[in-house]
Amino acid sequence: MTANPLAPVWLSQPEDANDLPTAVWPGDAHRTPSGELRLGGVSAAELIAAHGTPLYVVDEADARARARGFREAFERECARIGTGVTVYYAAKAFLSSAVAEWMTGEGLSIDVCSAGEFAVAQAAGVAPARMGFHGNNKSVAEIDAAVEAGIGAIVIDSPIEVERIAAAARRHGRVQAVRLRVNSGVHAHTHDFLATAHEDQKFGISLADAPAVVASIRSHPGLAFLGLHCHIGSQIFGPEGFEQSAARLLALHAELLAGGEIPELNLGGGFGIAYTSVDDPTPVDVLARQIADIVAVECAGLGIAVPHLAFEPGRVIIGPSTVTLYTVGTVKPVTVSVGEPGAQDAALTHTDMTHTDMTHTDMTGIQSPTAVRTYVSVDGGMSDNARPALYGADYTVRLANRRSGAEPALVRIAGKHCESGDIVVYADYLPGDVEPGDTLAVAATGAYCWSLSSNYNYLGRPPVVAVLGGEARLIMRGETIDDLLARDPGIGAATRKAPTAQRVS
Ligand SMILES: Cc1ncc(COP(=O)(O)O)c(C=O)c1O
Repeated sequence: MTANPLAPVWLSQPEDANDLPTAVWPGDAHRTPSGELRLGGVSAAELIAAHGTPLYVVDEADARARARGFREAFERECARIGTGVTVYYAAKAFLSSAVAEWMTGEGLSIDVCSAGEFAVAQAAGVAPARMGFHGNNKSVAEIDAAVEAGIGAIVIDSPIEVERIAAAARRHGRVQAVRLRVNSGVHAHTHDFLATAHEDQKFGISLADAPAVVASIRSHPGLAFLGLHCHIGSQIFGPEGFEQSAARLLALHAELLAGGEIPELNLGGGFGIAYTSVDDPTPVDVLARQIADIVAVECAGLGIAVPHLAFEPGRVIIGPSTVTLYTVGTVKPVTVSVGEPGAQDAALTHTDMTHTDMTHTDMTGIQSPTAVRTYVSVDGGMSDNARPALYGADYTVRLANRRSGAEPALVRIAGKHCESGDIVVYADYLPGDVEPGDTLAVAATGAYCWSLSSNYNYLGRPPVVAVLGGEARLIMRGETIDDLLARDPGIGAATRKAPTAQRVS
């Protein structure tokens, strides 16, 4: 077995390109005896026959278990250090009425950051008192509606919001609980983090400016100061970033106690997940213990009581529960000059050069080694998963319709959009006989995929189906061509031509 020199350093060629490592795939992802992918007891073929592709498939039991597991781990560890905890599910990761029901059913509260997210959660029956409202530019109307409805807490992101929320509280005769988002200077970037004194970013208020804003909050009888909040970033694998931010926030918290009580500290979300076989996030129960220890030690050092804690996980709850199914349209071997900038994420030294063909001559007449990358194009792309194009995110892909014994081939899964950056999976291995008509599954697409989806190139957003115990249930309808035409006032119903209710991809 030989490796392709175009493979990134981290990606090793698998013994079996049909396997479904449990770290990356939902708990109930299996292959049937005939080799087909089955999710939550439902075969990929059945799901595709009913809903077409692209299709997001979310394993309800998996999502619920992760929500419950997170809450229980943090409740246990917070109780150990003598405090309580509130876990908010970060709706921005993916929200539908079903997801809101699952999360609240598992004992989580909901964190929203727009009138739209608030409306969906309310329509799902979530009590406003059980929600927090975020955002660096909440409109006056959003603040007013949230206060009027009795939102549990609003996270203040800039000084100007103090007056806006106080005015809404006066209008509705309420005392509104608020948190203050502080820019702790600790910023997690994947599994590294940076700790700076002054961070140049749009969220929150600097540590230095926070005391004045808290004093202003406290001066309003219509506002109740709950505590400080920070969110240091996303896809965090270990406790170090939380340690730095908790230390900085608790020092400020202790200082602010001189001006009145502060019941709570909110350390945000950002807990990482495995997108590929080499991602190794610290398990949630271990992180819960580590974070609780950090908070307890800091509070003891400062001589203050441990505040009630709050967290806002999104990705770690819903991300691993979902896979996206696609249909392969074209398979194209592309010969790449190995030395070309961007051709390869890896150093050549680790590779076996037997895949390399030495015949390519570049424009300067110099021969350079070449290798073949197989581009596999699917019927979706950056409109259903913007993360690879936005952040260079990596994913894992497998054949969904069959098992194959063919030698693994390095593939790049491309979308169908008119952008060269429209990539779904930059690098993985699929059986080398992958062909048009095969179906593919991309793992861990539950967070920030549907919620970041678009209509680019007039593709409709795909449907979302929940699977549980052998049953599939549509939880988000896909968009049809009719949905897209209906938005254009220049296209009257009378001038609209068939096809209408057809899926768009
Ligand atoms: C304030 C806040 N809380 C929570 C989250 C959820 O982060 P994650 O999904 O990485 O847990 C985000 C994500 O951007 C956020 O901005």
